[in-house]
Amino acid sequence: MNAMPPPIPLIPTNAPFTVAQRAWLNGFLSGLYGPGATTAAPAPMVEAEEFPWHDPALSLTERQALAEGRPLARRLMAAMAQLDCGQCGHLCETYSQALAEGRETSASLCVPGGKETMRALKALLADAPAVAAPALVSVAAEPKGRAVVVTKSHRLTGSGSDKDVRHVVLDLSDSGLTYLPGDSLGLAAPNDPALVDGCIAALGLSGEELVPCPDGQMRPLRDAFGSHLAIARPLDRTTDLLAMAASNPAQAKALRALSDGDDDAAPQDGDLLDLLSVFDSARPPVADLARSLPALQPRLYSIASAPDAAPGEVHLCVSVVRDTRRGRARAGVASGFLGDRAIGHGPVMAHVQSSHFRLPDDPSTPIIMVGPGTGIAPFRAFLQHRAVHAQRGRAWLFFGDRTRADDFLYRPELEAWLADGTLARLDLAFSRDQKAKLYVQDRMIEAADDLWRWLQDGAYFYVCGDATRMARDVDAALRRIAMRQGKLSEHQAQDWIVALARQGRYRRDVY
Ligand SMILES: Cc1cc2nc3c(=O)[nH]c(=O)nc-3n(C[C@H](O)[C@H](O)[C@H](O)COP(=O)(O)OP(=O)(O)OC[C@H]3O[C@@H](n4cnc5c(N)ncnc54)[C@H](O)[C@@H]3O)c2cc1C
Ligand SMILES: NC(=O)c1ccc[n+]([C@@H]2O[C@H](COP(=O)([O-])OP(=O)(O)OC[C@H]3O[C@@H](n4cnc5c(N)ncnc54)[C@H](OP(=O)(O)O)[C@@H]3O)[C@@H](O)[C@H]2O)c1
Repeated sequence: MNAMPPPIPLIPTNAPFTVAQRAWLNGFLSGLYGPGATTAAPAPMVEAEEFPWHDPALSLTERQALAEGRPLARRLMAAMAQLDCGQCGHLCETYSQALAEGRETSASLCVPGGKETMRALKALLADAPAVAAPALVSVAAEPKGRAVVVTKSHRLTGSGSDKDVRHVVLDLSDSGLTYLPGDSLGLAAPNDPALVDGCIAALGLSGEELVPCPDGQMRPLRDAFGSHLAIARPLDRTTDLLAMAASNPAQAKALRALSDGDDDAAPQDGDLLDLLSVFDSARPPVADLARSLPALQPRLYSIASAPDAAPGEVHLCVSVVRDTRRGRARAGVASGFLGDRAIGHGPVMAHVQSSHFRLPDDPSTPIIMVGPGTGIAPFRAFLQHRAVHAQRGRAWLFFGDRTRADDFLYRPELEAWLADGTLARLDLAFSRDQKAKLYVQDRMIEAADDLWRWLQDGAYFYVCGDATRMARDVDAALRRIAMRQGKLSEHQAQDWIVALARQGRYRRDVY
């Protein structure tokens, strides 16, 4: 085995420290381990809190165990999905803090955590001493952004695919937005107008009625439901309000069961229209209804282009979330907008979320990228960047999806990069082209000797895509390779992975 160079421990940019704390700690560590290290006693360490549960690949039970004995806000945080996706209008840490302090009253805002998170939050809050109710329910402020226009949305998946994955192009001209490969775009998409119309009709209103919006402005109901309020998924604060307003006791009881996250309660996963249709005796004042709904939040998408390869544009790779429930076809708010209605719609607000997911500073450093499904997005940006700047550091991509015929996203580009050397190696795993499932991590294991060699040569290892299943399994495969190829014990393999992450050479953009 080649010995890995001793790690210079640096605090990763995604570690849960403030910029100032991280800068201080990095200075402290480089003084301690760097070339000019002396044995002089270091300055006293700043007491920096760690959030060991802040990893989306951990299960709820594992996260909760890691937060045991911590203050309420931290135990609440451990129940969140740990994606910092912003869909609750906060980060995991600030949403928990707001709940613990009573500034936020809804326990169902964590979209990726779903019902499991809501139940855990409610249980924790029920056991906690009551906090003084705030004078006003603080709903997270509406996000700011710049106006951009969607100019293209074409299907990447073939007609035989069950999935509708889109290549989306947005025009950034005049927006002033700039980005780097690895960044994400936050997009404030409007709600489906059919859903908006349905809700207004179910309320028996015209849509002209003025209602309060989360930014404090009064707006006509149609505008509020269209662009400012989240109406496409259930919210406990709304079901609580409807329960109080319901004149039919059976409906009030059913609404309370929904608020409690009861598995037998119906309708499961209902949007506002489902609730208004099923619970026709529940008609609170429309201003109260508007107040109970959270701000419609932007959705994040990993940017799939490099600015120098696509000047004035940003490209996304979006899997459109579709479902038919109770006889009505539904689509995710943002992915449905990008797939079905964005072309010709006019400007939408967008912001760039800067990331720790960056190419190595040295363009000759080898990179290994694992990105099945839409996880390909930032790697297309990386490869575009390396191609346009003729950077010849070795690049190895593991891509996987359902079938080669219909789900081989960006096939012509990837094959062209393989032919011109931008990609040194492309390993593919099509999960449904044979009887037994075949995933990217199986290809990693098959190529373990080479992969280990690349890592010994200083390669950076990147993972993008599904957080809960794929990223976890890829991490396990990497550990297995470290144990087998590196002849490390389980404990040493774990330390090696931690060192890799500390060196900034193991980076994940998972959701
Ligand atoms: C850092 C980051 C990067 C990401 N990058 C990408 C990427 O590159 N590509 C990509 O495709 N995704 C990406 N995502 C995921 C993306 O942000 C969205 O979560 C995803 O597109 C779904 O959002 P949506 O608005 O379409 O669906 P939502 O409206 O948020 O729907 C979410 C859930 O609600 C349900 N639902 C939707 N509408 C209704 C309704 N009317 N009634 C009842 N239930 C409903 C859906 O079934 C779904 O389960 C990323 C996420 C993060 C955090
Ligand atoms: N509601 C919808 O219509 C719909 C449809 C598709 C995706 N989505 C959602 O959209 C998001 C993005 O979808 P996507 O296209 O990026 O990915 P995806 O379709 O979920 O998966 C991409 C590839 O990864 C494979 N995979 C599944 N489990 C894995 C694991 N544990 N390890 C490694 N690979 C694994 C899949 O195989 P198999 O699927 O064959 O197991 C598939 O080949 C996902 O979060 C998904 O849940 C929603």
